[in-house]
Formats: sequence, structure tokens, C-alpha cells
Amino acid sequence: MTELLLATESGIARAAGILRAGALVAFGTETVYGLGADATSERAVAGIFAAKNRPHFNPLICHYPDTFAAFGHVIPDSRAELLARAFWPGALTLVLPRRSDCPIALLASAGLPTLAVRVPAPVLARAFLRACAVPVAAPSANPSGQVSPTTAQHVLNGLGGRIAAVLDSGPCDVGVESTVLDLTTAQPTLLRPGGVTAEQIEALIGPLAIAPPIDAANAPRAPGMLASHYAPALAVRLNATSVDPDEALLAFGPPCGDAGALFQLSELSDPTEAAANLFAGLRRLDAQGAALGLRRIAVMPIPDDGLGHAINDRLTRAAAPR
Ligand code: TXA
Ligand code: MG
Repeated sequence: MTELLLATESGIARAAGILRAGALVAFGTETVYGLGADATSERAVAGIFAAKNRPHFNPLICHYPDTFAAFGHVIPDSRAELLARAFWPGALTLVLPRRSDCPIALLASAGLPTLAVRVPAPVLARAFLRACAVPVAAPSANPSGQVSPTTAQHVLNGLGGRIAAVLDSGPCDVGVESTVLDLTTAQPTLLRPGGVTAEQIEALIGPLAIAPPIDAANAPRAPGMLASHYAPALAVRLNATSVDPDEALLAFGPPCGDAGALFQLSELSDPTEAAANLFAGLRRLDAQGAALGLRRIAVMPIPDDGLGHAINDRLTRAAAPR
């Protein structure tokens, strides 16, 4: 059962408590309803992909109650400061380098060294984010492939029964998603047009480059072309049923062999747990493998249904020749 909560003081407090406990809570912003999870929990973020039935992992936007909180987790430059002053709270998302001590789940960045941050406009949205007291990762609150929801009822129609709660703050004013601007490139790059226009941004920081978003759905399938996606330095071998002496092992369930470097994605073969551990596991084995002089990461088979499909999508990219 999905709880429908009104955005009153007590409804907000209850919704925030549910989110802090690791469950999913949809909430209204000025653009669309977001499907929120505790952004510092790999497990909670993995739950977002499971609930939406996303076929791949793409990075998510982290939502904050104010600019100070947002800039605590990324490294803003002078352009970011200028844009935040002009357009936050509002429908603008900034992609910036993660701080070295950034506590946000690797899965929320899809393994990238960058993080998308935004401060939504509505007072009720920010009251909810403040009550959460953790940053909230949130894509639009619809099943993958369906249109974004702009009312609580839309959310229930698409995700009712799959998420813990919806915080109803009425219909969204803007109805289209936030503008996504990447400030980690030499020239700022518009990744997605949205609520704040390119002209408004250019008036402050000069000409923008235009690029398609790095959603796997829009990106070229060849992994090498997804230059900004995290790729392990070691080679990757999929569907391994044994381990070679020069391999590290990424296990899913009981390990299929002995390895000098082993990382368990999920002892009990639970895909949500495996998704939560995926990026940390790749990084760990990459580092350990290099230290031990290993050449490759062997990955045990992962059933290709539900979140397993997204995990395999990511691993297939990592395994393709580079
Ligand atoms: O209006 C909105 O932005 C809504 C509300 C809920 O805030 N959220 C939303 O999230 O539309 P989502 O996940 O549907 O879209 C996020 C977009 C995607 O195009 C994604 O690729 C991009 O932001 N993005 C997120 N993190 C990124 C990163 N580190 N680098 C590049 N692009 C990123
Ligand atoms: Mg969306």
C-alpha cells in the first residue's frame, strides 16, 4: 500500500520519517513529482531504479532545501555561484564535480565523478527536504518510459503499491523538467532544456554548448563513446563460472572460485542489494586488482530480469573492448 499524505506539517514530518528510514517517497516540485530516496544510501537509491523499472542506471538529481546545503557536496565555480543566486530556488539543475568527501551514493552519480544538484522552488518541497535532513535523490516519479507526473494522482496511477508514500502538495506549476546544465566541461553544456531557458542562462554566463543528455537511452551504445561513464581500468569478463589466477572476482551469490580479490555484490543473490554495491565493487576490485597485478575482473552471471537488466547493461559496457 502506498500512503497518500497531505503536505501539512504532520504529513511532511511523516513523509520525511519514511524517507529517512530508507523507503521511497514521491513529492511535488515546481516541475514534476519526484521519486525521492535518501541520496546517501546506496540501497535506497537502488530502490528508485527498481520501482521505476529502469533498464539502465542513469545519474539522478540530488535535491536540497537551500544553496548552502547543495554546494556542501559539490565544488561550485563562479558561474555556479552566479546561476544559483539568479535561479535558485527554481527549475535549474547544475552538474558539478563531487567533493572528495561527498556522502552521496555512487549509484546516484551512476559512478561518475560529478553530481547534479538542484534547489526546487515550492515552499512545501523545501520544507519536506529540510525535514528529511538528508539530501534527496529523485528522478521523475513515473515508471520508466511513461510521462512525468504533475499530480499526486498521476504518481499513484503509475507507482501505487510500489512505493511507500506520496506527499501531495497539489499540481506542479511548470510541468516540464528542470534545465540540466553541465558546468564540468570547458564550455558550459546544456544537457536538457527545461524550466529555465538557455537565453536566461546565457545572459549571465555567456554561450552554451548543446549536448544530448548522458541517459543511456540517448547515448551511443558503444561504451567507449560514453567517455564520462566510469570504466574500470582492468578488463571485465562476464558470465564467469570459474576464476583464472590473474582475475579478481565480482561475485553474485556463492563465489564460483577462489580469488585474491573478491567482492560480493549480494550473498543472497538479491538484485537490489547488488545494484547498491555495484559501483563500489567495481572500484574496489579495480584498486585491489591493480595492487595485486591482476589483469581482469571476472563477473558471475546475474539473471537479466528487473534490476538485473540494468546491472548487466552497466557491466556489458564495462566489458566491451576499449
Ligand atoms: O525537474 C526535474 O529535474 C525533476 C524533478 C523531480 O526535480 N527530476 C528529473 O530527474 O527530471 P530525471 O532523473 O528524470 O532526469 C535527470 C537528468 C537526466 O537527463 C540525467 O542524465 C541528468 O539529469 N543528470 C543527472 N546527473 C547527472 C550528471 N552527474 N551528469 C550529467 N547528467 C546528469
Ligand atoms: Mg524522467
